[in-house]
Amino acid sequence: MGRRISGSVTLPGDKSISHRALMLAAISDGECTIENLSRGLDAESTAECLRNLGVKISSKDEKHRVSGLGFRNFKTPDKILDCGNSGTTLRLLTGLLAASNVAVVLDGDESLRRRPIKRVINPLNNMGANIETSDGNDGCPVRIHGVQLKGVSQILNVPSAQVKTAVLLAGLLADGTTELIQPADTRDHTERILSYFGVDIKTDYGVITLRPPENLKPFDIRVPADPSSAAFLIMAASMLPDSELTLHDLLLNPGRIGYMRILESMGAQINVVNKKRQYGETVGQIVIKSSSLKNIEVGADEAPSYIDEASILALAATRANGRSVFRGLSELRFKESDRLTNIMNIINEMGGNASINEDDLIIEGPSRLKYYDGDCYGDHRLAMMIEIGNIISSGTMSEKYCDVAEVSFKGFYDTMKGVLI
Ligand code: S3P
Repeated sequence: MGRRISGSVTLPGDKSISHRALMLAAISDGECTIENLSRGLDAESTAECLRNLGVKISSKDEKHRVSGLGFRNFKTPDKILDCGNSGTTLRLLTGLLAASNVAVVLDGDESLRRRPIKRVINPLNNMGANIETSDGNDGCPVRIHGVQLKGVSQILNVPSAQVKTAVLLAGLLADGTTELIQPADTRDHTERILSYFGVDIKTDYGVITLRPPENLKPFDIRVPADPSSAAFLIMAASMLPDSELTLHDLLLNPGRIGYMRILESMGAQINVVNKKRQYGETVGQIVIKSSSLKNIEVGADEAPSYIDEASILALAATRANGRSVFRGLSELRFKESDRLTNIMNIINEMGGNASINEDDLIIEGPSRLKYYDGDCYGDHRLAMMIEIGNIISSGTMSEKYCDVAEVSFKGFYDTMKGVLI
């Protein structure tokens, strides 16, 4: 009890940008370097799949070196590609490989097998893809026979950056223009990084137009720190009295920091000290000081901008006075677990008051939370939410979710211990 957060930290690279950087480097025309790649298991799953497709990837100090093979030059692997727990690896590679000259099977762990894949296969089929799942299941394993795809104009049905990116990666290797009409804005790292590399890609009123280039030149890039990992530290610093935390080199893409805007509306003190442009993205240093939080209502249109931080925001809402409502969180049901139901269950077991009304999450605060070391449903973002809850309620962490947390945030426990005094 009575603990606080104090320190100055640079976190590992953003997971979303890391997947994209690895895949784009793999189809570039030569040697690329990627600095500060995510050290989580998910990014490692992408690197390992690419290695099995014939791409040389090595790492030294903080830098990864990737030897790009050029467009449609992957080798057909002699084994099933294992995407582990990583939905981004599975969905993005499905797009990239459907348009490549390979025959592959992509699979993953039990959790990934339960997650929907038809949302990616359907728009790729509209481009001429040849992809099957066993017995037509909506999940992996997925068998892909890569073919030359055709760019088409289509409406995407799901507000998902993974689906959008799968189609854009396929469109990069396809014949003709790809046009996508999005149901909602989702994280736009793919559009930004491609545009930064000189690819003809534009977004106008939610419609993305991509004209495929002949090739992609090799590149060097530094991945900014992951704002989704930062969310757990930011929340702890906001909630624990007398805290002050500085985070450096943090990705501040507007589509990723919805949770910071929401937290600020709840009364949190988050100051951006300096902002700069880096490889098409906004990056900056932020300083967080503790504050008392008030309740909030968040509309469904904001859901994509904090979809990965909903668990920790819900935890923060247990501290606020009154009812907080987070609307339109249906996509949370398709994460590493049914995260919407599990947030409610865990918060209630911690002594909070959470309920679900259709796709809305409702938290009645304030509640005095208690220590929890029950099920985290194999879900990294729930594991880290639990430990922040444990720090708030009892000043200690159970440390039992290490393997799960490392899916996205390698070194989560060491980082927390480094700033918790
Ligand atoms: C991601 C997109 C999001 C997010 C996931 C990473 C990405 O998923 O939850 O952690 O890198 O494109 P959806 O786009 O399926 O919502």
